[in-house]
Amino acid sequence: LSFSEDCSVRRTPARMAMIGGGGGAFIGPVHRRAAALDGVVTIVAGAFSSDRSRNAETGRSLGLDPQRVYSSYDALFEREAARPADERPDFVCIVTPNHLHAPVAMAALSHGFPVFCEKPLTRDLPDARELCALADATGLPVGVAYTYLGYPLVHEARRLVQAGTIGTVRRVDVRYTQGWLSQPIERSGNAQAAWRMDARTAGIAGAVGDIGVHAQSLVEFVSGEQITEVSADLRQTVRGRELDDDCSMLLRLTNGVRGTLAASQICAGDDNRLEVSVYGESGGIHWAQERPDRLILNVAGQPKRHITCDAALVGEPARSMLRLPAGHPEGYLEAFANLYLEFVGRISGGKSWAGLSHHDGLRSMAFIKAVIQSGAGNGRWRTIQA
Ligand SMILES: NC(=O)c1ccc[n+]([C@@H]2O[C@H](COP(=O)([O-])OP(=O)(O)OC[C@H]3O[C@@H](n4cnc5c(N)ncnc54)[C@H](O)[C@@H]3O)[C@@H](O)[C@H]2O)c1
Repeated sequence: LSFSEDCSVRRTPARMAMIGGGGGAFIGPVHRRAAALDGVVTIVAGAFSSDRSRNAETGRSLGLDPQRVYSSYDALFEREAARPADERPDFVCIVTPNHLHAPVAMAALSHGFPVFCEKPLTRDLPDARELCALADATGLPVGVAYTYLGYPLVHEARRLVQAGTIGTVRRVDVRYTQGWLSQPIERSGNAQAAWRMDARTAGIAGAVGDIGVHAQSLVEFVSGEQITEVSADLRQTVRGRELDDDCSMLLRLTNGVRGTLAASQICAGDDNRLEVSVYGESGGIHWAQERPDRLILNVAGQPKRHITCDAALVGEPARSMLRLPAGHPEGYLEAFANLYLEFVGRISGGKSWAGLSHHDGLRSMAFIKAVIQSGAGNGRWRTIQA
């Protein structure tokens, strides 16, 4: 089944309750737009903000029944779980800062709700292990929002690597660089920066937890290899920060593959520069998220190819992830919408796709821990142990 066919096993849209994503938030509204794109999700309840008036205002702006807009996630789970089966939320979406992911997800699972959670899965590895144990015990699906696995050409790149187009994989290079934290904007009223640079709300890592995990999940997904060891160089470039804002590392992956990963938020002038390269014995494949509708395939001895989003020219599953004819660019919202198709398919008994489960979220938390330990140990190699 294609992703959209998976979802069509549902007669009615999946009912979603959202925690976080109140007025002024970044990713909550992105989730709501993406979830609405294909008509497979409808939002029915929320606890959007710890600020009372913002919470109510968000509920109003979404046209929700005020009775289903709650001042706390605990109240939401208790009351919504008691509703009749045809009204209850089918799943809970978590778009709060990182420190709340684990408590909210554990409470949701305990009330019988599947969970679609933002990355990183938790603040630290012990929390992730506990959450995964509960998810496994309940058998309820947990999805993690690795946005970049929602792009059709990322799947095409993986397919081409798996098909042997570039030969046996030898090397990977992935960078995720942004410039928005080049200055200490967390001290001048930027709420998104403030919680990201505070260990109480972000967890044990700064840039590595915020964007490094996207790079890690992307490079593992495309190459088909897992990072086993890291040697990391981390720093707090901006004076006064307690968490890393700039990180470079060497990677060792399964099957003898080697590589590099950079995750930095002090690269002044960069916007959202996530770029991945995978090299095999006979060629390389390259994808950049700021140009997501192009895949570059260079096979030694052949003309270089630019693969575009043309459903007639790409294989499955990329073909069924595209919504528009060739030449009509699709991007970030469509990628997010693909994650919703996958997750709604999964909770409706459809097939799931690799890279988006709580076990993948746990792997990222083990990756973060190894990176932080390696950085603290002057780059000593550390093994990733979930
Ligand atoms: N997948 C991606 O590409 C991507 C991109 C950006 C952010 N994120 C992740 O999304 C999460 C949110 O990031 P953001 O940039 O949107 O942050 P944000 O600060 O813009 O939004 C957080 C929201 O959570 C709300 N909140 C805080 N405490 C709450 C509580 N107790 N109950 C209910 N709501 C509460 C805040 O009021 C706010 O509305 C983070 O975990 C971040 O890592 C992921």
